[in-house]
Amino acid sequence: MKQNMEVWVNDSQSPEKDMKDWLECLRSRTMVHKFLYESSRQAARWLEVHRAFSPARTDQAVLQMYGSAFTKVAEGWRGSSVQLIGLGCGGGHKEVQLALALESRRHKVRFLAADASLPLVLSARHRFAAVMANPAQHIVSGWVLDIAEADLVGSLEELAGSEKRLITFFGMVPNFEPDIIFPRLASLLREGDQLLLSANLAPGPDYRAGVERILPLYDNSPTRRWLIGPLEAVGVSEEDARVDFSLVSRPPHGDLIRVQADLTFLRKVAVESEGEVFEYDQGQVFQLFYSYRHTPENLASTLGQYGLKIEKSWVAPSGEEGLFLLGRF
Ligand SMILES: C[S@@+](CC[C@H](N)C(=O)[O-])C[C@H]1O[C@@H](n2cnc3c(N)ncnc32)[C@H](O)[C@@H]1O
Repeated sequence: MKQNMEVWVNDSQSPEKDMKDWLECLRSRTMVHKFLYESSRQAARWLEVHRAFSPARTDQAVLQMYGSAFTKVAEGWRGSSVQLIGLGCGGGHKEVQLALALESRRHKVRFLAADASLPLVLSARHRFAAVMANPAQHIVSGWVLDIAEADLVGSLEELAGSEKRLITFFGMVPNFEPDIIFPRLASLLREGDQLLLSANLAPGPDYRAGVERILPLYDNSPTRRWLIGPLEAVGVSEEDARVDFSLVSRPPHGDLIRVQADLTFLRKVAVESEGEVFEYDQGQVFQLFYSYRHTPENLASTLGQYGLKIEKSWVAPSGEEGLFLLGRF
């Protein structure tokens, strides 16, 4: 394995921009999700939560669903090479399995591991090199960016090869506002490109009851520890605050339900970051996290609003997770 890796850093994730975004989080009392993953410590905490609670790691049937979907996508891929763009790839577990399926059908893979977190981009690259049968026949590079802000179309013209693109967006849909992310994804699809995304689903016929059923996947101490991490790094302790999970629906996506984690200060707290002091009163709330849950039906209708249509789908027997292969209308 080569000892060096090419990593592109987009302006949207420059240190200056990132610091500005962080200070805005502290000011607006609203966490932007990327800060839950960026530092090595946060990446490690998230990997621990992921290992313990993600159905893609704990439920054999979900693993099988990914396996059969990846086989189908690889079988259907036309051309000898594939530009695999893992948007928000995290540790790259799923992209690497997909790359393996492509490799076993003799496709040459150029993997662009794209994430806001450099530690996770590096971890994805390491996993790719460790798992592929012939890593030297493929190419892996990294892209550190803020997916919500980067000029994705222009940047991919610069960074990606001319091959057809297979864009993945695993585990990401829940953590973005639909009207921000779906138009961006739709704009990336050229003739012949494919977008494969996963969505967290509400199991069962009753949408709200289904979301209530999966609450324990969030409402647990490793997740609390992970979510409070960025504030802990600037001095907020577990004794200063309480973290509550609730179901929230709100405009403009009032038909969708999300699990939301809010931190409430139990006493007056002041934190300092980059020379700026932020004061929080007892009882003030800081939004830490949200995760939209869909049903296959409301996902199809949401995607349709942004010109995206589902071409193939796979839903786990538990009804908690699905994979969707998308094209444009
Ligand atoms: C829930 S994890 C999913 C990781 C992986 N795709 C999976 O399915 O296991 C979310 C990932 O998105 C990344 N992320 C969050 N916000 C981001 C943003 N604005 N731009 C780029 N990456 C982001 C995080 O660093 C993290 O790796």
